[in-house]
Amino acid sequence: MMKEKVLILYHSGAGSTRTISELLEHELEDVLEIEAKHIDFNFNFSLLNSYDLLILGFPTYHCEPSRSMMDFIQKMPILKNNVKVCIFTTCGLYSGNALRIASKELIKKNIKLLDYFKFRSPASDGAIILSSSLKLMFEYEKSLKKHLNRMTDQIRNYKTLPAKNPPMYKTYVPLNNIAKYFGEKEYDKMKNNIHIVPERCTNCNLCVTNCERRCWTANEIMPIFVPDNCEFCLECIHKCPTRAIIFSEKMKDRPRFNKQFLTTKRKKSWPSRFNQYYKGKM
Ligand SMILES: Cc1cc2nc3c(=O)[nH]c(=O)nc-3n(C[C@H](O)[C@H](O)[C@H](O)COP(=O)(O)O)c2cc1C
Repeated sequence: MMKEKVLILYHSGAGSTRTISELLEHELEDVLEIEAKHIDFNFNFSLLNSYDLLILGFPTYHCEPSRSMMDFIQKMPILKNNVKVCIFTTCGLYSGNALRIASKELIKKNIKLLDYFKFRSPASDGAIILSSSLKLMFEYEKSLKKHLNRMTDQIRNYKTLPAKNPPMYKTYVPLNNIAKYFGEKEYDKMKNNIHIVPERCTNCNLCVTNCERRCWTANEIMPIFVPDNCEFCLECIHKCPTRAIIFSEKMKDRPRFNKQFLTTKRKKSWPSRFNQYYKGKM
């Protein structure tokens, strides 16, 4: 029997959204022809019409969808066949209006919204800005399994789902807008201070190849950072294998969500399915 074609398109800085996307792919591949892909600047949008269902995943930054995901959605043409979509966001604490903003933008593209989901994940910003003793900053929520199961169940039955309206506007978000205003200002300062600790850098160029927004350029001694297009997703910082990228002396030895962190330090606190899934994979 022909399996239905599903595409998961995600944006992920530190890796939480990627993790959820890959788990979804893993859980659903027995019933669907499904693949998970990171969004990129050169995406061939005409392919979208050939899918039965799209799943879009993105982190929440400042109570909104990540800039990269919004740029991607805004670049999408109006689709032909009333393509269906489920969306999800990952957030450290509180997703504000992220799901609503993305839903509204997708509906403009003639895409039928079926459902939306939220996962509380390790806080990629909090983990390196706040105290490293705050356990909450390093963990997925306790009910992650339940949420994942709910999402996979809905996707298995997606054909029977009616279109859904975007989530309601969260009226208490204005409070967050104040936080956002000051948060963004602070994060801009930090972004402008991103630099390399020369004695730690091995010039492996992982930051250059990973950065979707092309903020890092390869150079003879070590890569050069130009912050103009940076959205402070923290990918370069979290993934640097030698922890050479920092924005302040204080954070120099804070834990990062890199390979070593994911496979050793916090392993016990993750749901068993994660450990099983990642065994030998990273
Ligand atoms: C610049 C920035 C802004 C953030 N803003 C929020 C926020 O407003 N609310 C929240 O709950 N988490 C916020 N976070 C945390 C991320 O949403 C969370 O860590 C997410 O899972 C990261 O996904 P990723 O690992 O796929 O990049 C922010 C993180 C960054 C880097």
